[in-house]
Amino acid sequence: MAFGVDRKNYDDILPVAEVIDFTHVPWEKVRGDVLAIAKDAFLSPDMVSELDLHAWYMNPDSVTVLLKDAQSDQILGYTTAIPVRDWYREDPRMRKRQIYPETAYIPMTFIARAYQHRGLIEPLMSTMEQALIDRGYRFIERDARVVGGYADAIGRHYGDRIVSSEVRKTNVGPLAHFRIMLGD
Ligand SMILES: CC(C)(COP(=O)(O)OP(=O)(O)OC[C@H]1O[C@@H](n2cnc3c(N)ncnc32)[C@H](O)[C@@H]1OP(=O)(O)O)[C@@H](O)C(=O)NCCC(=O)NCCS
Repeated sequence: MAFGVDRKNYDDILPVAEVIDFTHVPWEKVRGDVLAIAKDAFLSPDMVSELDLHAWYMNPDSVTVLLKDAQSDQILGYTTAIPVRDWYREDPRMRKRQIYPETAYIPMTFIARAYQHRGLIEPLMSTMEQALIDRGYRFIERDARVVGGYADAIGRHYGDRIVSSEVRKTNVGPLAHFRIMLGD
């Protein structure tokens, strides 16, 4: 599945978002690029755990989307989703939260630093959302940092589709949690 877009912010590349099936594309094939982009995107190796990335990739119910430049085949971005029940099972701090059905959790999204703030989040996430809808999901949940403006960007983008949101303090600064309806 691919999503090509025509937007002036990325005339120099041809973005294509691909849903990756781990049974066909082994982790070892994408591992190096994904880890390198993650460290570059977050400016800190501590923000990203290879163990987590690997576990999410191998979760049989996960969906992983890679954003590539179709001309060079270079990986530019990554996002992954797992069933929300698996996320809350992983994180004991979250056990008090209600686990809703038909809900996917998006633990991580990143784009290589040189390609950030050019609108590439749109093809990456719209491909992820369509893949989730195709698998029967009706909602996503995610957390986003308030500092830096990503939480605000999510608020602007999803608007009325945000079912609930709340901000909590964490050791990486305030995090906004969103529950969002999929579809238009
Ligand atoms: C956060 C990050 C993924 C955003 O991607 P990006 O391509 O740089 O995003 P941009 O700043 O170009 O685009 C944001 C715009 O896209 C819009 N948008 C479209 N689809 C969106 C979506 N699914 N989610 C969020 N914003 C979306 C936003 O509304 C915003 O538009 P506006 O500012 O005009 O209102 C990227 O900057 C990054 O990798 N940062 C470092 C890692 C990180 O912090 N990841 C998030 C936590 S896991």
